[in-house]
Amino acid sequence: MDLSFFTQKIAAGLAELRYGAAPEALYEPIRYIMALGGKRIRPLLTLLGAHLFTDDLGPVVRPALATEVFHNFTLLHDDLMDQAPLRRGQQTVHEKWNPNVAILSGDVMLVRAYELFFDVSPTLLPTVLRKFSQTAAEVCEGQQWDMNFETETQVSIPQYLDMIRLKTAVLLGFCLELGALLGGASAADADRLRQFGTDIGLAFQLRDDLLDVYGDAATFGKRVGGDIVSDKKTFLLLTAQAQAAAEQQATLAQYIGQPVQDAEAKVRDVTAVYDTLGIRPQTEEIINEYFVQALRHLDQVAVPADRKEPLRRLALQLMERES
Ligand code: IPE
Ligand code: IPE
Ligand code: MG
Ligand code: MG
Ligand code: MG
Repeated sequence: MDLSFFTQKIAAGLAELRYGAAPEALYEPIRYIMALGGKRIRPLLTLLGAHLFTDDLGPVVRPALATEVFHNFTLLHDDLMDQAPLRRGQQTVHEKWNPNVAILSGDVMLVRAYELFFDVSPTLLPTVLRKFSQTAAEVCEGQQWDMNFETETQVSIPQYLDMIRLKTAVLLGFCLELGALLGGASAADADRLRQFGTDIGLAFQLRDDLLDVYGDAATFGKRVGGDIVSDKKTFLLLTAQAQAAAEQQATLAQYIGQPVQDAEAKVRDVTAVYDTLGIRPQTEEIINEYFVQALRHLDQVAVPADRKEPLRRLALQLMERES
């Protein structure tokens, strides 16, 4: 089945959502960020997860939208924390309005996300809310590790992988598990889909880190080089630090953990070190490893292979994405 069948359901559902009317300063930024679009992959994963087991997607739409509203809440706060000027090619909420607006509009989005679960059947609701709350707390944990690591000098690759698992991957895992549960999957299949989503999520964040350096700003919709400027301990930087010869060590040491004098020069010189060391192909390699690992979990799910085709196709698109 074509992915547009599912994306249309999401678009129609989002168009019907009402976040609130007054005060305008609270709700307008929510309508703004939601209208900027994005890939909508989280609700898509939920619908595709459910569709493995059922054709009745009606009751799945609002819980699926909850994941998108929650994700957009995290973006408002993330952009403030990362001091990001651009999101989806437009001004971030804290830039267009101010930091307090990003905080409070974000807060109410989290509340609205919870409300979107209220129609889940009474038998599943406690499980769904427990899993969602756990996931949301883990996203915050990952976000705090990410911030801590900016000023730490000894971050290991396993620590990095655990950080991105928390800040990004567990939510993708939850989206798939949610869809599976709502679609009537067995506990074992729901768990396999969560693992599929988590591995896709790790690859997804690695790709995000790669695009932050090598993406095209117009397509990516975010400031390219932002991670380098703020000393984010990405797979790219950690791998470069581990493999750098003396000259490259010196270049990295000149910038990392130092006050930023010239952001452009920093991005240019650190990227040059990445280029010399072949960091890009190495990152693509690990992305592919997680992708392959993810597909192994999907293969185990006890439904006919043709039913899994849309999910497989989406996963591949995400690995190759430019935006
Ligand atoms: C951005 O998520 C934050 C990350 C976890 C990398 P997306 O790349 O899904 O952003 P949108 O929603 O498509 O804009
Ligand atoms: C995002 O990580 C994780 C969450 C939003 C929870 P990033 O900070 O890399 O996301 P982008 O690049 O700003 O979208
Ligand atoms: Mg960010
Ligand atoms: Mg961030
Ligand atoms: Mg990023």
